[in-house]
Amino acid sequence: MTRPLPDALLQVPHRRDVPFSKLTTLGVGGLCHWLFEPTTEAEAQTFVRACAQEGLPWRVLGGGSNLVVLGDVTTPVLRLALPKTVQREGNTLCATASHGHIALAEAAATIGLSGLEFASGIPGSLGGAIRMNAGAYGREWVEVLARYRFLTPEGDLVEKAPEPGEFRYRWSFLTGGRVILSATAALAEGDPAGIRARVAEFRGKRGTSQPLSKRNAGCIFKNPPGQSAGRLIDQAGLKGLRIGDAEVSPEHANFLVNHGKATAAEFAELMARVQAAVAERWGVALEPEVEIWRDDPDGSSSGH
Ligand code: EPU
Repeated sequence: MTRPLPDALLQVPHRRDVPFSKLTTLGVGGLCHWLFEPTTEAEAQTFVRACAQEGLPWRVLGGGSNLVVLGDVTTPVLRLALPKTVQREGNTLCATASHGHIALAEAAATIGLSGLEFASGIPGSLGGAIRMNAGAYGREWVEVLARYRFLTPEGDLVEKAPEPGEFRYRWSFLTGGRVILSATAALAEGDPAGIRARVAEFRGKRGTSQPLSKRNAGCIFKNPPGQSAGRLIDQAGLKGLRIGDAEVSPEHANFLVNHGKATAAEFAELMARVQAAVAERWGVALEPEVEIWRDDPDGSSSGH
């Protein structure tokens, strides 16, 4: 049974029944019954406050590039639609969470600021990247993050510098009802040609080792400490394992790809089969790196 939503919440721009296939890069999932898209920080604050006052569970969606949705979602979903701005001050760049992550890395390269080259192939929104402390090629966001601005679960606005314990491998404390609004990266002046060459090198590496031409959600499982999930899946002989249109990529085993008409159920089954096979072959329990939203028919989920 779904609860009626409070009037304050309905003041925030929203759409009904949007298919998750249009909101995620993997392109599966059911309907997002309530998609709230605030265009200002104040509207985002109204959303969070209204939910907090009513004790309503809700979730945050970014660029949908690290998300597997396994069904319909009836809890309200927040997807920031803030203007995509970038401001330079000295050697720092401040951008809104809605800004495209790759576009921000490209903006930094264009103006000759070095430090975000690692980010140039990681899709999604800046907010999503900070929230999961995205990284590649041995670098991660927390290394360049100077300040960030977010809403607390009560809807209060906080701006601060990162502190120990707030970010670690593919994890940050910016979950559980916290919403990142903007972030400032501390970069260094560099030679634009050199920066562009590093960007091209990282892109080239990704392009040859990852199935970027197919719909995917990036790496599906976290690397277990000291090991590579891709290698464990590969050496368990699972490349090319296919259920319907969902397949363990023959190019990189930690990517599951959608050949076109895959369903959420097929991805759920494929993930479970991979986990079971790796546990049996290597005795390792693979933990999802992607966020998973499960079918939520009664709106009782507390996930974000
Ligand atoms: N490998 C295999 N078979 C495979 C895939 C990989 O044997 O099918 C081996 C490779 O040969 C290599 C090792 O596993 O020796 C590691 O592979 P790779 O260099 O591709 O890196 P990864 O650990 O699989 C990580 C991140 C990626 C990021 C790359 C490049 C995680 C879970 N994955 O992948 O991030 O792009 O490094 O820095 O941390 C993501 O977060 O979504 C993501 C794709």
